Amino acid sequence: MNSAQALDVTPTPLALLLLGRGSDPASERGVDCPGDLPAPSDPDLVERARAAKAALGDRLFVLGHHYQRDEVIQFADVTGDSFKLARDAAARPQAEYIVFCGVHFMAESADILTTEAQRVVLPDLAAGCSMADMATAEQVAEAWDVLTDAGVAGRTVPVTYMNSSADIKAFTGRNGGTVCTSSNARRALEWAFEQAGEDGKVLFLPDQHLGRNTAVRELGMGLDDCVVYNPHKPGGGLTADQLRRARMILWRGHCSVHGRFSLDSVDEVRARVPGVNVLVHPECRHEVVAAADHVGSTEHIIATLDAAPAGSKWAVGTELNLVRRLAARYADQGKEIVFLDRTVCFCSTMNRIDLPHLVWSLESLAAGKVVNRIQVDPVTAHDAALALDRMLALP
Ligand code: 13P
Ligand code: SF4
Repeated sequence: MNSAQALDVTPTPLALLLLGRGSDPASERGVDCPGDLPAPSDPDLVERARAAKAALGDRLFVLGHHYQRDEVIQFADVTGDSFKLARDAAARPQAEYIVFCGVHFMAESADILTTEAQRVVLPDLAAGCSMADMATAEQVAEAWDVLTDAGVAGRTVPVTYMNSSADIKAFTGRNGGTVCTSSNARRALEWAFEQAGEDGKVLFLPDQHLGRNTAVRELGMGLDDCVVYNPHKPGGGLTADQLRRARMILWRGHCSVHGRFSLDSVDEVRARVPGVNVLVHPECRHEVVAAADHVGSTEHIIATLDAAPAGSKWAVGTELNLVRRLAARYADQGKEIVFLDRTVCFCSTMNRIDLPHLVWSLESLAAGKVVNRIQVDPVTAHDAALALDRMLALP
C-alpha cells in the first residue's frame, strides 16, 4: 500500500442531510421528525424529561453513547461505547422501551440483540453515521463477486465494524464473519484469521483506518499487507493479483470526525503543551495513530484518563462532547485535558439527539405512543445476529 492510499479520505459522495430534513432511502440517515418537538428555548425541558422518565419507571432503559451532548447524557441510565451499549441492551430484557441516545446503526444493533417484545427508539431518525453509509449492501455484494472472481472469497472472512448498517452485518453473518468494535478489533481479527486458515484474508468493513491500525499495530502486519477496496472503482480499483497477495482488504470508508486529526495536529499540540501525552481513537488515520503515545476505543480513553496521575497533560483525539466532559471531570484532580485539534470537531449526527427530541420521544412513550421505532426486518436481523453473537462470544 502506498501513502496516498493511507491518506485516502475523500468525502463520501452522499451529501449529509441538512438538519434532518428530507429523506434519503439509500442512506441509513434521515427522515423528517414526525412529531411536534418542544422548542429548544422551553425552560421546562429538563423537568419534562425527568417527569416522563419517572412516569415510565422500569419500563424504560435509556442508553447514552459517550459522544452524546451533556444535556442528553444526564438522562442516560448507562453510558458507554458501542460495544458496552450493545451488551447493556442485550442484558436488559425486562425493559419495554430502549431509548437509544446514539446513532442509527447502534439502535439497529440494540433491536437485533433485544427480545421481540422490546421496542427500540432513536429520538431523531436523522442521527445516522456517514461512515456506515459508505458501505451499502449492493456495493458489498459486488465486492464479494470481485473477490470470488479473483479466487479469494473462499479464504476471506468478513469483519465489519459495529459502525455499519444491519444489512452489512447480515452479509457478514451469512459469510461466516463477525462484528467488531474499537474495543475488541484485535480479538476479532485474530479470530477471523483463524477461521480463514492458511493464506487467509479479512475483508474489513467499512472503516479502513480501524482495520489498518489494528492489523499493523496489534497484529504486526506491514502496511503492504493491506489494500484498499474502493467501491466507486471497477473491481475496487485493485487487480486480482493485488487481492491475492493482500492479507487485509480494507473497505474505503472512514469517520469524518476522526479523519480530521492530522500529523500537524499532533505536532502543533506537542509544541503548544510541553510534556503532553497524545491519546487517540483508532478511527484516526494511521500516521496520526503512529505519532500518538496511546491509542484506544472511547472506553479505553476514559480508563486511561481515569488512571492518569495528577499533573499529567493529555491531548485527546476523539469526538469533542466526550473530550470536553472528560476535561471538566478531571480538572479538579489536576489533569489537564485538551482537544487534539484547534478546530471544533463534534459528530454532527450524534449531536442530532438533543433535549427537545429526547423530551418528545419520552413524553410520547409515557402517553402510550411509540415513536421513531427502529425495527430490523426478521431475515436481516437473523443473519446480523449471527455476526453480533460471534462478537459477543469472542474470548
Ligand atoms: P466506539 O464507541 O466503538 O469507541 O466508536 C466510536 C464511534 O465513532 C462511535 O460512532
Ligand atoms: Fe459515525 Fe464518526 Fe460520528 Fe461515530 S463519530 S457516528 S463513526 S461519523
